[in-house]
Amino acid sequence: MQKTILITGGAGFIGSHVIRLFINKYPDYKIVNLDALTYAGNLENLEDISSKDNYRFEKGDITDAELVNTLFKKYAFDGVIHLAAESHVDRSISDPGTFIKTNILGTVNLLNAARNFWKDNFENKRFYHISTDEVYGSLGNEGFFSETTAYDPRSPYSASKASSDHLVRAYLHTYKLPVVITNCSNNYGPNQFPEKLIPLAINNIKHNKPIPIYGKGENIRDWLYVIDHANAVDLVFHKGKNGETYNIGGNNERTNIALIHKLCEIADRKLGRKPGVSSKLITFVKDRAGHDLRYAIDSSKIQNELGWKPSVTFDEGIEKTIEWYLQNEGWMNRIIDGSYEKYYENQYEKR
Ligand code: NAD
Ligand code: DAU
Repeated sequence: MQKTILITGGAGFIGSHVIRLFINKYPDYKIVNLDALTYAGNLENLEDISSKDNYRFEKGDITDAELVNTLFKKYAFDGVIHLAAESHVDRSISDPGTFIKTNILGTVNLLNAARNFWKDNFENKRFYHISTDEVYGSLGNEGFFSETTAYDPRSPYSASKASSDHLVRAYLHTYKLPVVITNCSNNYGPNQFPEKLIPLAINNIKHNKPIPIYGKGENIRDWLYVIDHANAVDLVFHKGKNGETYNIGGNNERTNIALIHKLCEIADRKLGRKPGVSSKLITFVKDRAGHDLRYAIDSSKIQNELGWKPSVTFDEGIEKTIEWYLQNEGWMNRIIDGSYEKYYENQYEKR
């Protein structure tokens, strides 16, 4: 069946992997990528598919309601996969307003356009909102986030994502808009902007720069390879049930310090350094304000109901990831220009 799908935020990290998967797997679909190309958007992430017949790029901002409505009229979308967001917790602490605007108002614009354009005839239509496990707050040493865990967001980023999730559900209950939501754990893999822990650490190891670890490095994240997230998005978009939420996670919990030691160990081997050399770069810095201790996802619902499971182990995924960053130095260098260096200087204070 032919479909025209709006994917927002497709020039970012996860969006670019979702677009690549859909473009290659569904040649009969038309995929329209709406992205404002903020500091995090990079068309280089899509170079290999950008000339395909079933791909269109629209540069634009989801907070611009008129533009969003115009695109619905122009393309008559059957579905929306909404990834565009401000995504970095540290930036939300220094500048919450941008997160409120993009993550909440931008989502409302898309919901309104879908509702108005589809005019209550929702057959074969779907609005898929991509969210995060951070909406559930922070875990202690035990337990997992499930789909029924109460929301308890603690950063401006997670509060803005929680708010957008509530609005998506409100449009389901009030207007019967056919929505589906997924809440995913930390992704890693190629093309991630180097403000996030893993690409930042790999780049610093390569250039013998300090690897900044917040606090004591005891915080725990549940890591998932980005292509396994993209596969889950494909499955939920096509097989998920309207009105449902699915949690997606890697079942790969690591303390930050253990993760960084692992990166250092692999990098030593790949860079021909003596074992232990890279880990000397580890530097403990002032903690993130309100730093959530632990995230861990119970993904049994998507596994049991839709048959999803990760395709790679953490050891396989992290090897591929480090290899990709070491092989794609040009991609990294073109990102790390003057403005990013300035952000870096402001962000890290020694403890
Ligand atoms: P990213 O920061 O790498 O990419 C975000 C993209 O959205 C960029 O291309 C950017 O240009 C675009 N964008 C930002 N503001 C926009 C606006 N106003 N209008 C149009 N485009 C805009 O983010 P990511 O890590 O790929 O995350 C994508 C989505 O997945 C987000 O919704 C995020 O909350 C969610 N998520 C991320 C993770 C993760 O580990 N990275 C985990 C779970 C959920
Ligand atoms: O859980 C899903 C979320 O994962 C997504 O919703 C977010 O968009 C994504 O950015 C990510 O959020 P985190 O805050 O967990 O990711 P980040 O890479 O920023 O940090 C991972 C952990 O590493 C966290 O405990 C903070 C710590 N950290 C991070 C940076 C950037 C450091 O110790 N040093 C650093 O320099």
